[in-house]
Amino acid sequence: MDLFEYQARDLFEKYGVPVLPGVIADTPEEARAAAAKIGGVTVVKAQVKVGGRGKAGGVKVAKTADEAEAHARDILGLDIKGHVVQRVMVAAGADIAEEYYFSVLLDRANRTYLSLCSVEGGVEIEQLAEERPDALAKVHVDPLTGIDLDTAREIARQGGFSEELVEKVAPVFVSLYRVFDDEDATLVEVNPLVLTGAGDIIALDGKVSIDENAGFRHPHQAEWAGGEQGDPLEAKAKEHDLNYVKLDGEVGIIGNGAGLVMSTLDVVAYAGEAHGGVKPANFLDIGGGASATVMAAGLDVILGDAQVKSVFVNVFGGITSCDAVANGIVKALEILGDAATKPLVVRLDGNNVEEGRRILAEAAHPLVTLASSMDEGADKAAELAAK
Ligand SMILES: Nc1ncnc2c1ncn2[C@@H]1O[C@H](COP(=O)(O)OP(=O)(O)OP(=O)(O)O)[C@@H](O)[C@H]1O
Ligand SMILES: [Mg+2]
Repeated sequence: MDLFEYQARDLFEKYGVPVLPGVIADTPEEARAAAAKIGGVTVVKAQVKVGGRGKAGGVKVAKTADEAEAHARDILGLDIKGHVVQRVMVAAGADIAEEYYFSVLLDRANRTYLSLCSVEGGVEIEQLAEERPDALAKVHVDPLTGIDLDTAREIARQGGFSEELVEKVAPVFVSLYRVFDDEDATLVEVNPLVLTGAGDIIALDGKVSIDENAGFRHPHQAEWAGGEQGDPLEAKAKEHDLNYVKLDGEVGIIGNGAGLVMSTLDVVAYAGEAHGGVKPANFLDIGGGASATVMAAGLDVILGDAQVKSVFVNVFGGITSCDAVANGIVKALEILGDAATKPLVVRLDGNNVEEGRRILAEAAHPLVTLASSMDEGADKAAELAAK
């Protein structure tokens, strides 16, 4: 789960990371009141779970409460990369002398934690990493020892900080690591971490992702659930208790069992290379009892993805035999009626497969093509998606 910036700000404050006052506002009037309460120069900031808010016009400086209200009016309702702004945070304005970058994250590939740090922050860090990789320090962090003051100093030095600044930022890195560790986060990022004219270090922006699987250890994290949903399709899938992850591709995937679905993704991605590079559009595991209602719910979610051009249903009949799955597909298409608009390639195998294929052949639904193997089905679905 990703946190909103204001939630990250509150969390940072709890852990002693220096932040500026920030007040949440749902209306322009509330933004005015917040700015008046904070006093002086404020910054009105869009609260959406997507990067690049500043560039999209979602971060604006206000000299007066009137101006804060006007900015909030502009920013509320703004569409930032598909995320419509429903709230803003009015933050105290900082007198920025320098902008830095710091993050700590889970490095899955190397089975460890990784800290990224640069004295040149504020900018898009991906750009810095690409254009001048030397300016961005990458330091592995042992999860057993974490970031103590010495490690923090080393990270800061590698990030290009002068010795004087090392002493200022290192304690902040230690506190940020405590947020990461104690909250079971997978990412804590501050961009920018700033040095003010008065010489103070302040976290001006915060991104925190927490590992929901550890939620049982942190009852207080439940309050962060809700609000803006990451992806409307994922939200819909969650309503139906479906195990769905949206991906960036054209071939919708339905299968039973996580292992089968994962290998289907691989096979479709491979088959797609011969068809102009089409890719799987999602992960969807409908689990053991592939009933008509579950199948209909799954198809409904996948067909709701505008990017999807074809669907590959790859089911291995086990406890739920193929005839039950075939009946499920036929009934699901009945339930969906006109909402089913994209071609479906179905591959069934396993328990009672003959009967399953017979049922689908007999139903002869115009959108359904039967495939006799996983490779054939993947190829057919990719071909249909590429059309
Ligand atoms: N409280 C503040 N006072 C003064 N300037 C600020 C403040 N908050 C942000 N800024 C300025 O606006 C810039 C962008 O703000 P911020 O980093 O929060 O958003 P962003 O990076 O554009 O969005 P995202 O982090 O979602 O990509 C900062 O680099 C900083 O220069
Ligand atoms: Mg930022």
